Amino acid sequence: MALPKINPTTTQSWSKLQDHFTAMETVTMQTLFATQTDRKECMSLATDLVSLDFSKNRITSHTLDLLIQLAKETKLDTAIAAQFNGAVINETENRQVLHTALRDFDAMKPEVVNTLDQMKRFSQAVIDGSHKGYTGKAITDIVNIGIGGSDLGPAMVTEALSFYKNHLNVHYISNVDGDHVCEILQKLDTQTTLFIVVSKTFTTQETLTNATTVREWFLQQAGEKAIAQHFVAVSTNLSAVASFGILPQYTFTMWDWVGGRFSLWSAVGLSTCCAIGYSNFELLLKGAHKMDCHFKSSEFSQNIPVILGLLSIWYTNFFKAETQAVLPYTQYLSKFVDYLQQASMESNGKSVDRNGSKITYQTGPVVWGNTGTNAQHAFIQLLHQGTLLIPTDFILCKASLHGKKNHQDILVANCLAQTQALLMGTHGEDIANPYKVFQGNKPSNLILIDQLSPESLGSLLAMYEHKIFVEGAILNIYSFDQFGVELGKKLANKQLRS
Ligand code: F6P
Repeated sequence: MALPKINPTTTQSWSKLQDHFTAMETVTMQTLFATQTDRKECMSLATDLVSLDFSKNRITSHTLDLLIQLAKETKLDTAIAAQFNGAVINETENRQVLHTALRDFDAMKPEVVNTLDQMKRFSQAVIDGSHKGYTGKAITDIVNIGIGGSDLGPAMVTEALSFYKNHLNVHYISNVDGDHVCEILQKLDTQTTLFIVVSKTFTTQETLTNATTVREWFLQQAGEKAIAQHFVAVSTNLSAVASFGILPQYTFTMWDWVGGRFSLWSAVGLSTCCAIGYSNFELLLKGAHKMDCHFKSSEFSQNIPVILGLLSIWYTNFFKAETQAVLPYTQYLSKFVDYLQQASMESNGKSVDRNGSKITYQTGPVVWGNTGTNAQHAFIQLLHQGTLLIPTDFILCKASLHGKKNHQDILVANCLAQTQALLMGTHGEDIANPYKVFQGNKPSNLILIDQLSPESLGSLLAMYEHKIFVEGAILNIYSFDQFGVELGKKLANKQLRS
């Protein structure tokens, strides 16, 4: 079963959406809310972990019908089934796309069970101190050495779940900038530090350079034999790991059917697993699986990732909005946008379709943002009064983790106020000063979770993964390769040799 290869612009629904857009362009959401009192109820969806209020979008029920028709005409259902059934949907790299199989405990592949078991035993030994350093001391610090998907996902999740963290200090080295490496090493003691070298390919220049520098630093104080207790690796390239000197019992396997930017669920998440403990890591996987089930089985009109993906296509292709902002109202998600940028932009930043033809419509939007309320005192002016249309996702936790009700009340009030201000602007107010007028009519989604937990975070991340999939599937692109990063690598090597 391959992915369908339908140019979305050749469908009936695309033409209808074009006509419909002409009518909708001048319709304001202020009017839509005034004429439909139950709009919020009609345009909200929920699982038991994540809910979405998409009422503040420039759509009517007819827009939704047409967008769903587009999903049907482009055979999104076939694409979803192909992904979950393990079809080779990453055709350009001849690979399956099965990160969802890493979190399906009911139908888990034996090799995944084995690796999870290895992660469980190893993380437990590091946490309880039975895995000792070369002088007999327990590990206090973990350094993840990796870049892109081998860094962004784990770093983001470890930060996001720091409330659940144990005593271990976790650091992330990604950039090949030697100054950054030295700054981190300065803080570390070779006797009590564990290095996890994470590279799916084990050929990535930055990661191998950093790992080599770290090993040299380590060997200035410790003997060659000590490498065994202090260096572990996560990779598909087991022979390269062995050549680096890492023992098989400290090598964690991943598979080519897990894309780098979707790999935090695999052993790539080992640093997170050590930081929060295996049982929390398992909850993260289970939360993601709940969203997988929702995505796989819900009708399109009730399907959170499908609706998010369709809205994205609506704005990017019809309103010609080139960017989308994501504003999590929790500091725990301070690394979320960096992670999402890779997940989305490395996936859908494509301009050739699945038939090999040059694309004449828009594919992946620019994704950007920062945490609220910080964003309110930085760039949000442009969202409210700038000339660009920037659909925005607000992510909000209903309850905080440490209590501090007064802070949480302020945080929630600010988040909701922003969605309201973007929607209504100063509509209905008599403002003489044109500089103080807010037009409103700016679209936003409100994504709510009760409380940030391993499970709810897992669901939230899986929701965005599937949204990205929906966009790529409908837009007829191959979302799972990343040839666009290769030319720069080649030229950098040429530059180095000259
Ligand atoms: O160059 C881009 C990329 O291949 C990403 O897709 C990937 O996440 C990153 O590099 C790191 O790759 P690796 O895990 O193989 O070191």
